[in-house]
Amino acid sequence: MNDRFLRALRREPVDATPVWFMRQAGRYMPEYRAIRANYTLLEICKQPELAAEVTLQPLRLGVDACILFADILLPLDPMGCPFSFEKGEGPVLHAPIREVADVDRLRVIDPRESLAYVLEGIRLSKQALGGKVPLIAFAGAPFTLASYLLEGGKSANFLKTKRFMIEHPQAWHALMEKLSIVVADLLIAQIDAGADAVQLFDSWVGQLSPHDYRTSVQPHVKGIFDKLKARNVPSIHFGTGTATLLEAMAEAGGSALGLDWRMPLAEGWQRIGHDRACQGNLDPCMLLAPEKALFAAADRILAEANGRNGHIFNVGHGIVPETCPEVVRALVDHVHEASRRL
Ligand code: CP3
Repeated sequence: MNDRFLRALRREPVDATPVWFMRQAGRYMPEYRAIRANYTLLEICKQPELAAEVTLQPLRLGVDACILFADILLPLDPMGCPFSFEKGEGPVLHAPIREVADVDRLRVIDPRESLAYVLEGIRLSKQALGGKVPLIAFAGAPFTLASYLLEGGKSANFLKTKRFMIEHPQAWHALMEKLSIVVADLLIAQIDAGADAVQLFDSWVGQLSPHDYRTSVQPHVKGIFDKLKARNVPSIHFGTGTATLLEAMAEAGGSALGLDWRMPLAEGWQRIGHDRACQGNLDPCMLLAPEKALFAAADRILAEANGRNGHIFNVGHGIVPETCPEVVRALVDHVHEASRRL
């Protein structure tokens, strides 16, 4: 197996810096759009054969890991909060949480039953990969999932989420606890189904002040990472806009922390500590820049990583649909070659 990615997560030496991309399977790839022409996003997620096929599509780009094709919102439906993806709007929840009683109604599901299709997708993807590269599984973190449950969809200022958190602290913690149980069970079930690493997406947690993060979120996230320890599989803890939260996120856990592009990688790595791996952190918009500027940006990130064991090259948030796959391929080759020379 090409195990650069797993070696880097364990901070072992590698022959070249491993590369993968958040949202590496998606609309920017013609072969993904061809499948999407016949199936909705949820249909792909729920048919393990299709999910596995899409999961492997980015292999042609030379990436050092594949990430299971799925979505962080999938557990919410069996928990009692159905949703759909509306064109141009993103996710829309049909019955968002409005009051304390809504939290009581949320079901704590067993992912091995309710999300069996996700686990089957992992088994099929692993089989199809035949050990070529490791497979990453993932889940949304409790704050980011709660924000969808409370806002009912995407949000600019997260007002409903913050209001609920401040006005109903007890119900908030009950909500975070229910989500944390499901998320930890899901990650563990994915590991047992064959995932080689897991990533926890706390995409919107950067909305919180350090104080609110520490009191309202961190203990729950720490509980999830603590439960993962028994499985001895590496984990990545990711968020965006987390410049002032990095130390607290690192304390919560993760073999690696994922940084976005707003934080210089050298500074971010220093802050989380060099005894932890570090993933990131190219601005995904740079993939639309002329090749010279793109490669220079990648070189700056490699220079900031300074040849230290434990760097995984990635974008700072998902690849955007306007990206050209050939440019992604060229970037992967460039990062491999440039890091070999270092
Ligand atoms: O290649 C991969 O990264 C794996 C697949 C993946 C998807 N969603 C498929 C998807 C992953 C890792 C996710 C995670 C996810 N989903 C997150 C965390 C990562 C992040 O971006 O911060 C979040 C917040 C979601 C919720 C979600 N799903 C939103 C907000 C949207 C709409 C936004 C958009 O880009 O349209 C989705 C839809 C979604 N999930 C798409 C894909 C490929 C959009 C493409 C489509 O409709 O086919």
